[in-house]
Amino acid sequence: MSDIMLGKKILLGVSGGIAAYKMPLLVRLFVKAGAEVQVIMTARTKQFVTPDTLAVLSKRPVLTDVFGAFAQPSHWAEHIRLGEWADMFLVAPATANTLAKLAHGFGDDMLSIVYLALRPNKPRLVFPAMDGEMFTAASVQRNIEQLVQDGCTVIPPEHGDLASGLVGVGRLPEPETIFAHAVKALAGSTDALDEDEQKYRGKHIVVTAGATREKIDPVRFISNYSSGKMGFALAEAAAQLGATVTLITGKTPLATPPTVARINIESAEEMLRAAESEFARADMFIAAAAVADYRPVEVQSEKLKKSDSEFSLRLIKNPDILAAFGAQKKPHQVAIGFALETHNGIENAKEKLLKKNLDMIVLNSANEAGAGFDVETNIITIITRDGFAEKFPLMHKRNAAKTILKKAAAFLSAIAS
Ligand SMILES: Cc1cc2nc3c(=O)[nH]c(=O)nc-3n(C[C@H](O)[C@H](O)[C@H](O)COP(=O)(O)O)c2cc1C
Repeated sequence: MSDIMLGKKILLGVSGGIAAYKMPLLVRLFVKAGAEVQVIMTARTKQFVTPDTLAVLSKRPVLTDVFGAFAQPSHWAEHIRLGEWADMFLVAPATANTLAKLAHGFGDDMLSIVYLALRPNKPRLVFPAMDGEMFTAASVQRNIEQLVQDGCTVIPPEHGDLASGLVGVGRLPEPETIFAHAVKALAGSTDALDEDEQKYRGKHIVVTAGATREKIDPVRFISNYSSGKMGFALAEAAAQLGATVTLITGKTPLATPPTVARINIESAEEMLRAAESEFARADMFIAAAAVADYRPVEVQSEKLKKSDSEFSLRLIKNPDILAAFGAQKKPHQVAIGFALETHNGIENAKEKLLKKNLDMIVLNSANEAGAGFDVETNIITIITRDGFAEKFPLMHKRNAAKTILKKAAAFLSAIAS
């Protein structure tokens, strides 16, 4: 599982725009994901969000003034220490004023001077946000161009309602989207999220994962070797793209990915109940769980005793959760299934796709080394309704998850801005 934020040192520079009010939520996302966050705010920012709020959430004093830092029992040159300390510098919101300072090498407050002191190979993410025509002003655009040339990743603001009541380009993206950009930058990418990846922002993605357990008696159950790793990787990848993710999972020791809402279940029937409560609001339903096809007709209330040399168990078919979603899905909803086959893989997977009214099915072979249950890697073939099948080479389940989401984005409607 990706723990990319775990232990990462994030400098969050907040400048004095109205969107600074979103920063406490962003700090929480970083902290929840295991990152250390040092907030630096400009003097003006205090008009928009209190330093105390950000200090409590980040568990560190908020810094503003280069000289004020001497008052604290810390390093003799805090700005230099922070520049060395950070794994990433993220400025959100970046006002027109702060953009100008960063683009021109000013160093008259803690934010701008730490920006100068940052090690050159560390990612710098800048999120301009401003009202009215400010963003399109020639000087602002010139400064952005300069920052890009200097190696910053500048994420353009979104189109939408602005604080002034105007509608236009200037909105700061939501904290989940900023977080997703930060994850991407830490993973080594200097690109902004591409068009497909952006489609996940604000979407509700429901993922099922792991094996179900079908009770025989108080101490025994029927289950399978599924570890839940593929489903957890999908939930994590979707969350990193800014989706709201519900993960319905069988028992597994895997840690819940940051920002993902987890529902623990045991049996197929419990999984169906949990899933049904999510059907209506799911934009995409990804069934990565290995649900037992059958369960014992009767669950013994006492432990079965060993007696005869043979023993038979009567089983009854379990509900088909994915087919239930497929049967009721609305045109905007996307259904994705998994198929694990030992023979006639593509044929069987195609049949399953049509029978269950899916948009896409991911076939993983149970025969190939490094693929299938309880391993870190997978070999996937993605099949769509038009019958097109694309096989991918052996890859880590985390990368398989990203590949699947990228393909599945084609079925998601573009988000209205
Ligand atoms: C209510 C209000 C909202 C503002 N919002 C923004 C904004 O969203 N973006 C921006 O660039 N400037 C905004 N400004 C102007 C900045 O606060 C101002 O340029 C300030 O000097 C920025 O200082 P700083 O960059 O050091 O934080 C706003 C000003 C006010 C009074």
